[in-house]
Amino acid sequence: KAPEMIKVERVGAKKSVALITLNRPKALNALCKQLMAELATSLKELDNDNQVGCIILTGSQRAFAAGADIKEMVDKKFPEVFGGSFLEEWNAVSSTRKPIIAAVNGFALGGGNELAMMCDIIYAGDKAIFGQPEVNIGTIPGAGGTQRWSRFGNKSMAMEVCLTGNKISAQEAKEAGIVSKIFPADKLVEEAIKTGEKISDQSPLIVQMVKEAVNAAYETTLKQGLQEERRLFHATFATNDRKEGMTAFAEKRPPNWTST
Ligand code: HXC
Repeated sequence: KAPEMIKVERVGAKKSVALITLNRPKALNALCKQLMAELATSLKELDNDNQVGCIILTGSQRAFAAGADIKEMVDKKFPEVFGGSFLEEWNAVSSTRKPIIAAVNGFALGGGNELAMMCDIIYAGDKAIFGQPEVNIGTIPGAGGTQRWSRFGNKSMAMEVCLTGNKISAQEAKEAGIVSKIFPADKLVEEAIKTGEKISDQSPLIVQMVKEAVNAAYETTLKQGLQEERRLFHATFATNDRKEGMTAFAEKRPPNWTST
């Protein structure tokens, strides 16, 4: 069944980048069950698609996503959310093995900001607005807002946004370490696509190893992370792409990756 709340396209000169656009404009892309299920299904398909080297996740100019769907949550009770593992399906985003670039224009609030932080790179449009306003509606972030923000950015800003519900600008989010680059809003997606194409031109096998290694820095201790990095580095020597990359450098020619 074709998705209704997201749009999936192949973009870039070689069509090697998948562009997923959250498309529930009337609710500012509030992340309801159906939208997240469609996103999970699409990410699984793209992860297994050899033509795709990188995925971009974006919303509209007005909203990346204004959070989890508050109207869908309002009547839920503890046994249902705990027993039913509410939000479990969101793990599909962080368990995607290909790189995902979040291209954030407009609001990235609550679950919207958490969704962006599950991606690997966050590019922001110059008018993007980030925040964790859950405290305003009597709850707390539930999909990484207190954890990822603290690890990727800094504790003081994580505390401030989560405790006050204050919204911050793209510039502040960049200074806080959440966002890597800011672009004019109307150039954002094309810039993300350029980066996506660059990643897609690398060896997909090696790219996966890079993602796994960087993630280890955020999921383990430094000692374990360094060990994992070293082992993955060693593992590149079991690939043809490592041999090809170094040979091509020595022969002053572009490499021809085979993902073997
Ligand atoms: C459901 C939402 C929504 C949301 C907006 N809408 N955010 N519906 N869930 N999170 C709907 C509005 O109800 C409205 O629909 C329409 O989108 C347009 O929104 P407006 O409020 O009229 O727009 P505006 O005045 O421009 O204000 C934009 C806004 C505001 C500042 C983003 O909508 C807002 O504060 N939204 C809630 C943000 C938030 O609290 N997010 C955290 C959610 S909790 P109708 O049909 O009524 O006109 C969360 C928990 C995370 O994410 C837990 C883990 C995932």
